Amino acid sequence: MRAILELKGVEKTFDNNRKESFRIKSLDLRIMPGETFGLVGESGSGKSTIAKLSTRLVRPDEGKILIDGKDIAPARGKKLKEAYGKVQMIFQDSYSSFDDRMKVGASISETIKNFQGYKKSDCAKEVDRLLERVGLKKSHLHRYPYELSGGECQRAAIARALAAKPKLLICDEATSALDVSVQHRIIRLLKKLRKEVGLGIFFISHDLALVSSFCDRLGVMKDGVMVETGSCDEIMADPKHPYTKELMEASLFINEI
Ligand SMILES: Nc1ncnc2c1ncn2[C@@H]1O[C@H](COP(=O)(O)OP(=O)(O)OP(=O)(O)O)[C@@H](O)[C@H]1O
Ligand SMILES: [Mg+2]
Repeated sequence: MRAILELKGVEKTFDNNRKESFRIKSLDLRIMPGETFGLVGESGSGKSTIAKLSTRLVRPDEGKILIDGKDIAPARGKKLKEAYGKVQMIFQDSYSSFDDRMKVGASISETIKNFQGYKKSDCAKEVDRLLERVGLKKSHLHRYPYELSGGECQRAAIARALAAKPKLLICDEATSALDVSVQHRIIRLLKKLRKEVGLGIFFISHDLALVSSFCDRLGVMKDGVMVETGSCDEIMADPKHPYTKELMEASLFINEI
């Protein structure tokens, strides 16, 4: 089977100044269709940079970024748009990813028109279907993003991402700003989407306990390097890298207090 996302030998340096330069070093990563891959690591380890490289919001210095087998590292225009349809991303602050001046329904319609080529008149049913899928009501359609709660806005962001019919959804700290019960409801929604539409999920978080509770595989980042990768069960039972052990101990400590 072909990976939906594959990074091969990806390198990226941000040369802010010599002392503060940051480097992603020869990164390899494979996410299969329908798989849930979790990425954990401390703040500044490069998790968001990997998400941005995977969607070409950041251009790599070296290496390949294959989406469904096609290298988007050198891609432009139509080819890049095609890739954006297959891999969608949601962020911690979903409010800022919406246009304040557009109602939620209009934003979702826009994505449907853009990626599925529907006419405006055919969009309404699809918008209703997507809202139902993510557990929002029709009345939410007519609200502006700032008129939604954090959890509702994250659901709206997921609906808009699904409007492109992606094969992979990248969630960059997408539940980190939500309270624990809303966070669990969003995770349940992601699990449901994985089951119902076979959506692959690339879940980025600093919360190892959360990631390991629902991901198939796990990658651990430290200082721009993926220091350990493997099945969640294996890593949680027998972490190999000292930093993974440290993360696990910290997560157990937090659960105890
Ligand atoms: N566009 C950029 N230009 C310069 N430096 C950048 C850029 N984007 C990220 N960096 C730097 O790269 C490093 C990794 O940042 P990144 O956002 O990937 O970390 P992260 O693991 O997502 O952290 P957090 O958990 O806090 O979100 C940081 O030192 C950051 O300052
Ligand atoms: Mg980040």
